[in-house]
Amino acid sequence: MAVLEVKDIYKAYGNVEILKGVSFTMEKEETKVIIGPSGTGKSTLLRCINQLSPPDKGQVWLDGEEITNPKTNINKIREKIGFVFQDFNLFNHLTALRNVSIGLEKVKRIEKEAAKTRALQELTRVGLDAQASQYPAQLSGGQKQRVGIARALAMDPDVILFDEPTSALDPELIGDVLDVMKSLCGKVAMLVVTHEMGFARNVADEIIFMEGGVIVEQGPPKEMFTNAKLARTREFLGRIGALYGEEETGG
Ligand SMILES: Nc1ncnc2c1ncn2[C@@H]1O[C@H](COP(=O)(O)OP(=O)(O)O)[C@@H](O)[C@H]1O
Ligand SMILES: [Mg+2]
Repeated sequence: MAVLEVKDIYKAYGNVEILKGVSFTMEKEETKVIIGPSGTGKSTLLRCINQLSPPDKGQVWLDGEEITNPKTNINKIREKIGFVFQDFNLFNHLTALRNVSIGLEKVKRIEKEAAKTRALQELTRVGLDAQASQYPAQLSGGQKQRVGIARALAMDPDVILFDEPTSALDPELIGDVLDVMKSLCGKVAMLVVTHEMGFARNVADEIIFMEGGVIVEQGPPKEMFTNAKLARTREFLGRIGALYGEEETGG
């Protein structure tokens, strides 16, 4: 059974239709990368998936449960769908450790000491055990984003949505974040909006190219990069490849 099924999603803001019928499925432990021009609805799609902004039409199924159903408990869903934001969204008044443990306590109702232990495990997993007691202001952008990833992982989600996780980072900090993401491949389902073509090419099981609120083309990276069916896809990949390089940033 697919871990995530997105069925014919429509979303408008005012009179402007942003998503015009988006459908795809994700298998357990699959990594999918979404690419597409700015303003095309990629972030909107992620927010429709975790119900941060519910779609106007269409359904989202998580582990066989229709989460777009208004009767579904939204808090239960948020536990199962991790979200990693472009601008980190950390609590600036809390330490790295507390940023990770707070969800375990408040949402998962795990006792304080156990939550702390678990949070430290996740920080260790992203290489930040030594920074556990530091505040976001004392961390680099790459470290902040790794705290964001640890926070998502701590909830033991079925799928993690990444919205341009490296776009706000200085180039020399991108590699560490991508390395952490790579280390998660095959362990949890990941849906990643990114311009990092090296990551897309080497790590994704499938690439989805979105434009104008629809999926234009999708397929395995090998096919998409060397043998895309549509001229539009080839043109976009060529342009983005020239901008962001085909080599992975920072190794
Ligand atoms: N909350 C909102 N209210 C009104 N318009 C929005 C809102 N969020 C996004 N949009 C518009 O929807 C379009 C798609 O945005 P977005 O999903 O952020 O695109 P992408 O992530 O692909 O760059 C843009 O034109 C954006 O201005
Ligand atoms: Mg976006």
